[in-house]
Amino acid sequence: MRLRDCHNFHDFRRLAKRRLPGPIFNYIDGAADDEVTYRRNTASFERCDLVPNILRGVETIDLSVTVLGQKLAMPVYCSPTALQRLFHHQGERAVAAAAEKSGTMFGVSSLGTVSLEELRKAHKTPQVYQFYFHKDRGLNRAMMQRAKEAGVDVMMLTVDSITGGNRERDLRTGFSIPFRLTLGGMLQFAIKPLWGINYVTHERFKLPQLDEHVDMSGGAMSIGRYFTEMLDPSMTWNDVAEMVRAWNGQFCLKGVMSVADARRAAEIGCSGIVISNHGGRQLDGSRAPFDQLAEIVDAVGDRIDVLMDGGVQRGTHVLKALSLGAKAVGVGRFYLFPLAAAGQAGVERALGLMRTEIERDMKLMGCTSISQLSRDNLRFR
Ligand SMILES: Cc1cc2nc3c(=O)[nH]c(=O)nc-3n(C[C@H](O)[C@H](O)[C@H](O)COP(=O)(O)O)c2cc1C
Repeated sequence: MRLRDCHNFHDFRRLAKRRLPGPIFNYIDGAADDEVTYRRNTASFERCDLVPNILRGVETIDLSVTVLGQKLAMPVYCSPTALQRLFHHQGERAVAAAAEKSGTMFGVSSLGTVSLEELRKAHKTPQVYQFYFHKDRGLNRAMMQRAKEAGVDVMMLTVDSITGGNRERDLRTGFSIPFRLTLGGMLQFAIKPLWGINYVTHERFKLPQLDEHVDMSGGAMSIGRYFTEMLDPSMTWNDVAEMVRAWNGQFCLKGVMSVADARRAAEIGCSGIVISNHGGRQLDGSRAPFDQLAEIVDAVGDRIDVLMDGGVQRGTHVLKALSLGAKAVGVGRFYLFPLAAAGQAGVERALGLMRTEIERDMKLMGCTSISQLSRDNLRFR
């Protein structure tokens, strides 16, 4: 199986599974507890049917949207994800370059493996910086200042990770940073030697957003301890309001699920929210973002940009979310499996296929621009 044999999410996932050691594949593919929410995120789109219109003159399609003050050539962006150089040695460099080619936005995680400055210098496309809130307020201020100086376009504070999710696949393999593999986990690395050769022959693994502040070397600070010891579980709306004021630019809360929280986010001056359950990796049993979309758009859609992510695998999923009122849709595993399968070429192919799908689906729906999508196009089962 090669890259050109990959035509959809499932093909890329299969190729990634072949290339990656089991513990790394399962870190990407896995979710919390029984992974019910993970499965439901995609299944929720299937409760909803598209109702097309015909004979509307659809030879040219405009997929552009403006969201969080950024003009995107298509309504799909790469959501921030951790540790990308573990999945492919090009890591964030590949994702940023592919996002730029598609004219869309990409996120850099606090747990990213390439520095936000390097990516900002190398690419013109809008860049999101995903932030976690630390106990040390001075550290928060310093990190925001650093992002401001680097020229980050959107600050995105993740608020659904106040504690780590229960990822049982990782417990079984021993996946953690630094690695503490079980015997079974080690064997799975041993049978994928190409990954190992690639890993040791490229630049040393690091977390440049954090390593000035946190010593991750020699096991002194694991990611697990970073979450439990450095992040602040006492964070409240007042803290976020202060951050919004200090950032004084496009500010987005990621991981909002309730109408009450969406209203609060609008009140404290956020420019947008991402309805998200972290790809099912945090609270299992929580509702799918697509199922929460309509009521949140109805409550705050006229004041702030409502985005969503979770379970998106198809152009039709994107069309359904936009028809309900989302301004743009984030993807995670949709580009991570292609990254693992083939680096930049993989992510480019995946985003290109997504663009082609959306364009084709828009034509079949009888729409020439995103603004023509509406709830009239949808029926729920
Ligand atoms: C491997 C992996 C790592 C992730 N790392 C982060 C992260 O560092 N920060 C964050 O806010 N979200 C992170 N996410 C969540 C994504 O940003 C996004 O919300 C989620 O992947 C969307 O679901 P999907 O994978 O079904 O598209 C991660 C997701 C995955 C799969």
